[in-house]
Amino acid sequence: MNDPLFAGVNRVKDPAAPTDLEKKHLPDISAPAEVKAREPFAVTITIGKNLPHPDEGGHWIQWLELYAGEGYLARADLTATVSATPVTFTLKLNQDADLVVRARCNLHGVWENRVPIKVQ
Ligand SMILES: [Fe+2]
Repeated sequence: MNDPLFAGVNRVKDPAAPTDLEKKHLPDISAPAEVKAREPFAVTITIGKNLPHPDEGGHWIQWLELYAGEGYLARADLTATVSATPVTFTLKLNQDADLVVRARCNLHGVWENRVPIKVQ
């Protein structure tokens, strides 16, 4: 991605051995590997699924965005202490895509993960 807004995006460097910081911020994407064209399916995003991210006044996940490749699909804005992940979106795709999630922690920046979806 060439968008300078995401020049500093964080990703897990070694998926076999993520650090605690990476575990707390990695957007986990739960979605079917294969779907039917234009039929609705659910995508659930959880931040810190295996090591919970703090959710307190001075430190929280501010937002997350969902893309198909570089095409914007959806966004959730979160508040400290009251709203949190998991967040579920319903999608209807018409072609194969990488689902990309970017989530921003107010202290630790933007974190990205992606999963491929095959469309029949
Ligand atoms: Fe954080």
